[in-house]
Amino acid sequence: MASTAPALRIEPLSDQHDRESFASGVEPLDRYLRHQAGQDARRRVASCFVLVSDGDRIPIGYYTLAATCIALAELPEALAKRLPRYPVVPATLMGRLAVDAGHQGRGHGEFMLLDAFSRVLRNEIASYAFVVDAKDDRAARFYQRYVSDISSKEAKDCSPQWPRSPNCFRSILKMATSARQKNVDIFLI
Ligand SMILES: CC(C)(COP(=O)(O)OP(=O)(O)OC[C@H]1O[C@@H](n2cnc3c(N)ncnc32)[C@H](O)[C@@H]1OP(=O)(O)O)[C@@H](O)C(=O)NCCC(=O)NCCS
Repeated sequence: MASTAPALRIEPLSDQHDRESFASGVEPLDRYLRHQAGQDARRRVASCFVLVSDGDRIPIGYYTLAATCIALAELPEALAKRLPRYPVVPATLMGRLAVDAGHQGRGHGEFMLLDAFSRVLRNEIASYAFVVDAKDDRAARFYQRYVSDISSKEAKDCSPQWPRSPNCFRSILKMATSARQKNVDIFLI
């Protein structure tokens, strides 16, 4: 039977989005979306992507991506020794990730994290690592799930298609594993 749930879309933030009522429970993240995200995108210091339901202008969630780099000395030795002796390696920073409080706990955070992975993997410009900037312990615990998932020997490879069914979030391990195989690692900083 066809699903009647509205389709979700992730798209670049634009003036069409109504950000005033967005409330994730973390005020600096809400303020950033309202007042700063657009400027950062125009100045090309961070790209902002929003999750919306089809036909709705109010974001359910958002995340930002920007280029960054990691000093070789900051990497675990096991990883660093497999790299050329450049002082830094290129990486992608997910500086912010937030879901509106009314929509939390439904897989949207995970969905956006995977969308961000897939953007990094599709990008033609090399990025060795995916860096997340956890604002507090709670955020770190959320990201930590994916760090350990990525190391799972049990997880199998899969194609990076976006599933649409309620079970789609089970693909996350596989997607993350696929990311690992392409040399994208997550670091908590
Ligand atoms: C953290 C946040 C982005 C998670 O988004 P979400 O849509 O609520 O999370 P999801 O529903 O995708 O959760 C995915 C999985 O992570 C788990 N999870 C969610 N938040 C978690 C946390 N803080 N600690 C540990 N696990 C967490 C969920 O239980 C779920 O696991 P399950 O599939 O086994 O049930 C969201 O709660 C949020 O916006 N919080 C406020 C802002 C924030 O802290 N941002 C973090 C980046 S700075």
